[in-house]
Amino acid sequence: MTDFTSVKDKVVVITGAADGLGEAIALCFAENGMKVVVSDINAEKGNKVVEIIKSNGGEASFVRADVSNEQDVKEMIDFAVKTYGRLDGLVNNAGIAAANRPTHEYSVSEFDRITAIDLKGVFLGMKFGVEAILKSKSSSGFIINIASMAGLLGNSSMGLYTSAKHGVVGLTKSAALDYAPYNITVNAICPGTFRTSIWGQAPEEHVQEYAKMLSPNGRLGDPKEIGHLALFLASNLARYISGSAISIDAGSSAGKLTPAKWTHPEILD
Ligand SMILES: NC(=O)c1ccc[n+]([C@@H]2O[C@H](COP(=O)([O-])OP(=O)(O)OC[C@H]3O[C@@H](n4cnc5c(N)ncnc54)[C@H](O)[C@@H]3O)[C@@H](O)[C@H]2O)c1
Repeated sequence: MTDFTSVKDKVVVITGAADGLGEAIALCFAENGMKVVVSDINAEKGNKVVEIIKSNGGEASFVRADVSNEQDVKEMIDFAVKTYGRLDGLVNNAGIAAANRPTHEYSVSEFDRITAIDLKGVFLGMKFGVEAILKSKSSSGFIINIASMAGLLGNSSMGLYTSAKHGVVGLTKSAALDYAPYNITVNAICPGTFRTSIWGQAPEEHVQEYAKMLSPNGRLGDPKEIGHLALFLASNLARYISGSAISIDAGSSAGKLTPAKWTHPEILD
């Protein structure tokens, strides 16, 4: 079997799915026949994603949840099970960035906020999501945690985000071992630089400049590319992949770029 039909009718919850990478994953999953619970703190945008999915003939529902709030996350998972009768997968995608500054200049409240959303939120998702997947007796359960290239490498002026994302990778690897005997794969996706609202009000030229600097192929990632990778990980084609932190960054995290002049640049003519 080399297509993605195995995902059809799987029930999945996606956090932070009202925008950006989460929205792209939701649209891609729904296009492939999955039943998608779109969750976010932004109900207006989340409901719009559901409308788009339904107008394209897919199946989706919205539930509001702040991933840093234990009760919200519990209710989000309960909602999925109540609505669709089971749970097969969870994408812990919701996350925020912190302002860039050297470590000693961050406040304790900034630390608490980013850790609560970017790390504790993933833990809470797994805490309640895994239980529901186990109770659903899913033969092909999956957890996908959206980490970051910052989950693999240090980043100057990004200590809080980077430490939270390293934590997500650590949770992913440990949970993969916990649940391998129970048919649940647990993987992290580590995106490089994608154009979403996480960049806030940063001017387009600034973002493009940043992408050129960070991305060896000189372009920003398209959120749809994250959707395709997530679809593969959710499908039965990927059942032997677990505990992996998969980079999707045009090679950015593969190593350092060293400038070298080609002896024969004419081969590109
Ligand atoms: N865009 C990138 O370049 C990039 C790179 C690496 C990693 N990531 C990671 O990808 C994930 C998605 O980022 P994005 O770029 O799509 O961001 P985004 O800002 O476009 O979307 C994030 C979504 O999460 C929601 N959200 C924020 N806080 C929440 C909370 N407490 N509970 C529930 N939902 C909440 C927002 O409302 C929004 O809809 C994040 O975990 C981010 O760290 C993004």
